[in-house]
Amino acid sequence: MAQVLCHLPKFYDENLIVGMDTYDDAAVYKVDDEKAIVLTMDFFTPVVDDPYMFGQIAAANSLSDIYAMGGKPVTAMNIACFPNCLPINILADILKGGADKVKEAGAIIIGGHTVEDNEPKYGLSVMGFINPNNIITNTDAKPGDILILTKPLGLGILTTAIKANLLSRDVIDEAATVMAYLNKDACDVMLEVGVNSCTDITGFGFLGHCLEMADASSVTFEIWSDNLPIIKESMDLAKMGIIPAGAYKNRNYVGKRVFMNRDVKQEISDVLFDPQTSGGLLISVEENKSVQLLNLLKHKNKTECSIVGKVKRKGNYSLEVI
Ligand code: CO
Ligand code: CO
Ligand code: CO
Repeated sequence: MAQVLCHLPKFYDENLIVGMDTYDDAAVYKVDDEKAIVLTMDFFTPVVDDPYMFGQIAAANSLSDIYAMGGKPVTAMNIACFPNCLPINILADILKGGADKVKEAGAIIIGGHTVEDNEPKYGLSVMGFINPNNIITNTDAKPGDILILTKPLGLGILTTAIKANLLSRDVIDEAATVMAYLNKDACDVMLEVGVNSCTDITGFGFLGHCLEMADASSVTFEIWSDNLPIIKESMDLAKMGIIPAGAYKNRNYVGKRVFMNRDVKQEISDVLFDPQTSGGLLISVEENKSVQLLNLLKHKNKTECSIVGKVKRKGNYSLEVI
């Protein structure tokens, strides 16, 4: 697909500070020396049965790319697809979930559009403000940095298990709470401490997003497999072979670039390639600020956060999982 897409016309504008050339998922357009707008959009099919919860998760996911760059969401527009055979109050519940999340983010919904489609889909197009001199991209991880992840992994495996009716209510609620949680608190802490680089972990899986950030920064990431925050049930499910197709795609695409130590358990390796829905921020921070960052995160951020590795000078592999 990339070969086809690279023939699309390219746009140049001196005020476009972050565009499509880098791996960042949001674009930044400068208004003046103190102000820039950050723009992103995302939408997807339901990952949980409860329409209100799905709305919250899809909105949290769409807002995440603004937070990953250190921006503040300001306005959002709904984008929805909905079949005419389903009761319309389901769509209302999805939109209500999205609206409540946008409210929690301190932003406003200013409109949107719905089209008829066989399968429901929902998400947001978000505009935020950002200081053009303080944009956090995924291109500035430095050798010596510590890597911190702000949400537990295993969400793609868990949503696959939800669709197969394999999860208890408790585990569904746990996964949904993690996915619906805004990356806002993590973003606030990151701006307070000052960090080198950040990305959010979504469909490309933990290692896929690590690879983008390591390559864009011309460094190697060493990932500590014993330190990863993982929702325990996802490893049990991985052992049973409940693994989404996207995880195999990610492994095929990224796997060759990863040195995987033989001691790394198969179920952890599966989780590392698992596509995440509304995952956490992966932050690269100077070592001498890392303890402060982790302590503040543990205080203010309500999802599990851990140090997951360190940044080294570029080696033979972009990623080393030990
Ligand atoms: Co995104
Ligand atoms: Co219209
Ligand atoms: Co992203």
